[in-house]
Amino acid sequence: MKKKILVTSALPYVNNVPHLGTMVCILSADVYTRFLRLNPEIESCSVLGTDEHGTTTETIAKELGMTPQEAVDHFFKIHKEVYEWFNCDFDCFGRTTSPENIEITQNIFTRLKENGFIKENEIEQFYDQEAKKFLSDRFIEGTCPHCKYEEARGDQCESCGKLLNPTELTNPKSKLSGSKPIIKKTKHLFIQLDKLQPKLEQFVEKRANYWSDNALTTTNAWLKEGLRERAITRDLKWGIPVPEKGYEDKVFYVWFDAPIGYIAITKANRKDWKEWWHNPENVKLVQFMGKDNTPFHTILFPASLIGSKDNYTLLDTISVNEYMNYENLKFSKSRGIGVFGDNAKETGIPADAWRYYIIMNRPETADTRFMWKDFQEKINHELVGNIGNLVNRTLTFIKKFCDGKIKEIKKPLIYEEEIKEIINSYEQIELKKAIKTIMNLSKKGNQYFQENEPWKLIKENPQRAHNTLAVLINLIKDLSILLQPIMPLTSEAIKKQLNATYEFNLESLNTKIENHKIGEPDVLFKKLEEKQVTEFQEKYSGKQQKTEEKNKISEKTLSSIDLRLAKIIAVEKHPEADKLYIEKLDCGNGEERTIVSGLVGHYTEEELIGKNIILVYNLKPAKLRGILSQGMLLASSQGKKVGLLEIPDGKPGDKITFNGIEMKTAKEISIEEFFSITIQSKENGIFAEDKELQTNKKIKVDKNLIGKIK
Ligand code: 2FM
Ligand code: ZN
Repeated sequence: MKKKILVTSALPYVNNVPHLGTMVCILSADVYTRFLRLNPEIESCSVLGTDEHGTTTETIAKELGMTPQEAVDHFFKIHKEVYEWFNCDFDCFGRTTSPENIEITQNIFTRLKENGFIKENEIEQFYDQEAKKFLSDRFIEGTCPHCKYEEARGDQCESCGKLLNPTELTNPKSKLSGSKPIIKKTKHLFIQLDKLQPKLEQFVEKRANYWSDNALTTTNAWLKEGLRERAITRDLKWGIPVPEKGYEDKVFYVWFDAPIGYIAITKANRKDWKEWWHNPENVKLVQFMGKDNTPFHTILFPASLIGSKDNYTLLDTISVNEYMNYENLKFSKSRGIGVFGDNAKETGIPADAWRYYIIMNRPETADTRFMWKDFQEKINHELVGNIGNLVNRTLTFIKKFCDGKIKEIKKPLIYEEEIKEIINSYEQIELKKAIKTIMNLSKKGNQYFQENEPWKLIKENPQRAHNTLAVLINLIKDLSILLQPIMPLTSEAIKKQLNATYEFNLESLNTKIENHKIGEPDVLFKKLEEKQVTEFQEKYSGKQQKTEEKNKISEKTLSSIDLRLAKIIAVEKHPEADKLYIEKLDCGNGEERTIVSGLVGHYTEEELIGKNIILVYNLKPAKLRGILSQGMLLASSQGKKVGLLEIPDGKPGDKITFNGIEMKTAKEISIEEFFSITIQSKENGIFAEDKELQTNKKIKVDKNLIGKIK
């Protein structure tokens, strides 16, 4: 009977677009499964899907103006496309919102209850009376009792870092409605992990020898502290219904149903799912996840399965990865920082290069960073310079000097140790080590080419030249097999160029290609140019988004500026200030206003009288040397010159707007807000960014000045 290995990758939440960091876990599981498939003695089954429940889904849906179902459908499609683009090949793919997951989750709950591991507790929780919702800790904000920071979250203060209980906050506010939440009693169902602790300890003990340190440390910390009962229901609408009277308005906690999703996804994909999930004797379950997921997989999920007493397959090997960050920043879709699944595709860099980089930089024991420079280095020196070079120079040489034919191997090159090490690394899920050893073997091939100098031998000792080339072709074949889990398309391409028929499996490492005609050599990888790197660095740095955001902000400011035509009807000198006039304005509709402006020296009193100027109508009134100025007129400046903006043919009260921007009224704006945007007179008009100042009559810049508007 074949050995059965069941592989899962943590199911990413579908309330976002996956980024490179998300891909670490998924690709690791994919690479490992593809490696298992190379072994004819192993039968493997791999599971991936999307985690669709939880508060965050509700929140995102609300932000997007969608229902939660619409939101998860939207993001599911994006996730699926991204995984397909990265060539992830999972045997089972699905969603935690499936009917299968509802059925199995409710069943496991019922079994836990029957077996006495579920208890109901009444707890006190904050409740938002306006939103009519119980609030999870993160949705409460208030003043931190320790450092007095006013926007501390219910679970933690971001300012001093202390962990909090929402009831400790002074002045608690609901983040949903802003109202003051009340404390209300509510009932929840709890899984009694305390009762399951002895069984869980046995389960962990059995595996302690081969779990990674980070997985063991976290798990043992929980066990040592003593497991406590944990709520598995939530006051939400979006989630799996709880089959229990009185729980009609509640659903299961997302972390209760998400791991059960692995089972449900398998069931939805294959008839023989029980052979995998109800077969602990014969199936080894290997689970990949990010470090924050550990206790859910080593405690909560096994507890649910053990407590159901239904002979489920339990976690055997756990592979926990740390995080991959972006350059010196954190990935942020909203700020445009980092490479996301959809961006990887648009760069034109092939999926295999990304797969290579991510595995090469897999955060196995510490966080790593995606760096464009490093990516360039790895593409150009390792993919192009090492493996690409070996394949290309060997095949081109054979094509050119041997009529495309190789003969038999007389004297082999020995690299059994390397192969053993590579296979062993894959088996131990030390994927970084596996790829590094593969690349070293490829380097060995390049050295062998170099040392044997086939370009000389072909004339001086053709037999040795032919041996060298046959050896290299076989090394290339072996490399293509060993590389296949990481770079499947590259391996296919190599096989095609070799014009060979071998299967991608470990047995093919023992077969030989001899007396054979190769196919057409072709370039495997293209260099990543300096120019591209600079472009990508810029593009995914968040700067572009910042400009867009700035534009949005200035649009917002523009739409809050109320500009109106006013006629100057009287002017006098300010009694207290040499540079200032006091002007009386007719603002239309019988309204008169007084403003103060610094036009002395630029205009005489006579010149000003009768002019139609543009007034910032909703500027907050301010006293200038003791006189209240109810607005400000607009003028252009160039060097020391000042020229008024005038609308000779308009009439007082006419509105002036920025093209394309709807005026929203007319709260007062401060002078700082007004000057946060730059307005400029140019040859062809007056503009704020790209928006032209407009009214139904022509606007004239007196003295034709070109410059900043003040
Ligand atoms: O961290 C996450 O993205 C979770 N959605 C992982 C869930 S893993 C499994 F339980 F589904
Ligand atoms: Zn604090």
